[in-house]
Amino acid sequence: MSDAVRIAVLASGGGSNFQALVDRFQGAENPQREIVGVIASREGAGVLERAHRAGVASAVSPAAATGDEMAVFLRRTLDEWRSDIVVLAGYMKLVPETLVRAWWGRILNIHPALLPSFGGRGMYGARVHRAVIEAGVRITGATVHFVDEAYDRGPILCQWPVPVLAGDTPESVAARVLTVEHRLLPAAVEALASGVVRLEADRRVHWVREWFETETFTNREG
Ligand code: GRF
Repeated sequence: MSDAVRIAVLASGGGSNFQALVDRFQGAENPQREIVGVIASREGAGVLERAHRAGVASAVSPAAATGDEMAVFLRRTLDEWRSDIVVLAGYMKLVPETLVRAWWGRILNIHPALLPSFGGRGMYGARVHRAVIEAGVRITGATVHFVDEAYDRGPILCQWPVPVLAGDTPESVAARVLTVEHRLLPAAVEALASGVVRLEADRRVHWVREWFETETFTNREG
């Protein structure tokens, strides 16, 4: 049996997507995957409490760090954990270029809308869902993409649609999308970890088997 694929998480908030990864990968029934640690971008982030409860290592990035210091900190921490895959699960900061290069094709981000719409700098949290409602679109969703040097721009790995309903608020859309995120993100990480999908040097996403052949995935509740 080969070594486990080591998955590190970067997060800034409550960490419900981190929890979805823990629920999917941590535990005796998944010896080939390991959540090796989470880096929070701020003290007090809810994800730290979740990590503690799950017995997952955690670190907090230094608040006053310069860009270069941040890059060194992240690189050192991810190296210490011998991270194979890095997952941004509600991470609000830009990933330093040195990291993007070192983990090219191995960093994933989840975004709570259908990219390339409603993404980019400043488009996070309730702002995304408010923009969706204001635009009057009837479909939004979740996107998992490979990370490059810009916010929300890297090659798209997979998406799942979510309806926007009459009377929706940013909060109600966020909750509906989040339910889907919790299914999409672990499925995407598993596809990458198992080698079913990979990112080519020319930025093309190559699927060994088609997405829907790899996961039974619906957006029904429960
Ligand atoms: C999610 O909606 C994610 O798509 C976005 O930030 C939110 C994080 O939620 N990038 P949580 O911290 O995982 O609960």
